[in-house]
Amino acid sequence: MTHATIRRALLGAVLTLAAPAAFAQNAPAQDASSTAEQTIAAMTKIFGDHPGKRSNHAKGVVVEGSFTPSKDAAALSKASVFSGAAVPVTVRFSDATGLPEIPDGAPEANPHGLSIKFRPADGSEMDVVTNSLKFFPVATGEEFRDLLVAITRSGPGAAKPTPVEQFMAAHPAAPKALATARTPSSFGRQVYNGVNAFVLVDAAGKRTPFRYRIVPVAGEEILSADDAKAKGPNYLVEEMPARLAKGPAAFRVEAQIAQPGDSTKDSTIPWPEDRRFVDLGTLTLTKAVPDSQTAEKALLFMPNNLPDGVEVSDDPLIDARVQAYAISFGRRSQ
Ligand code: HEM
Repeated sequence: MTHATIRRALLGAVLTLAAPAAFAQNAPAQDASSTAEQTIAAMTKIFGDHPGKRSNHAKGVVVEGSFTPSKDAAALSKASVFSGAAVPVTVRFSDATGLPEIPDGAPEANPHGLSIKFRPADGSEMDVVTNSLKFFPVATGEEFRDLLVAITRSGPGAAKPTPVEQFMAAHPAAPKALATARTPSSFGRQVYNGVNAFVLVDAAGKRTPFRYRIVPVAGEEILSADDAKAKGPNYLVEEMPARLAKGPAAFRVEAQIAQPGDSTKDSTIPWPEDRRFVDLGTLTLTKAVPDSQTAEKALLFMPNNLPDGVEVSDDPLIDARVQAYAISFGRRSQ
């Protein structure tokens, strides 16, 4: 499928909502494969097979730096990443889709991703995998699979309303979530959200459910559609190393704290903006890696790769992601 076709199928459906209709007819044929395998198969159908590349977020750039935790972080979690000393990090910024050559300014390159691997000296690694959506289009792995399958069935010639239009109509959070995706002037000038809830656990066992928000210290800078279109195809992946050659790029890593009653298991529901944001620390990126292509091939960010002191919540998307990322990693490592 070409970029234009994906855009027509996905963004077209977002903008022109079809009448509500049952989605059952678009459920994939029952077979022995798992939801995650069906998800990866649908991604491959949409984006094509690109050996050695991620099934999603295929295009990216790897950089390095450090994370300096705040005092508030140490009070909320016993994890060593939050204990005080600066921790080395490896970070990958990415474009959405499984298209390794997608133009960075294309609407389909949204949401952009920010993945962080924290590497404290005691070896208790932590991965944080975020994107630029304010909330997620669907609540479960099955629904995400269904959305992708609907896209595969909504190419040119599909009867109206197309399967993806039907999906959007039946899942009103999906078009709303996708409408929050925006193109920045730089990977360093975008806000990234953890979307899924996790739990901070302190030394006394007190549990604090939260969601990550990662905010550029330089502020968010969003491009108009025309400005995004006028940018070179690699303007984001090339700008980040150039930016770091001139000076560091910093982000505040924040935790939005859930209040009783806030759902931790439905990523389609953002928590109210007036929920408290705790500053967990500062991410300071300082240099690009010498060979980003080689570095990204070896890297695997897993949303459940967590140290003692940070736990997954009851959000079913987290395990759905873990299953899919493992399959994608297995395929791209061959
Ligand atoms: C059921 C839901 C989801 C599925 C099935 C899914 C699937 C995938 C797959 C297959 C990859 C490639 C993994 C690899 O080869 O290493 C990937 C990468 C990624 N995903 Fe997801 N994803 C989901 C939800 C999310 C959410 C909620 C976020 C952010 C909040 C997210 C952000 C990312 C990012 C940033 C990457 C790139 C990771 C890297 O830099 O290596 N995804 N996703």
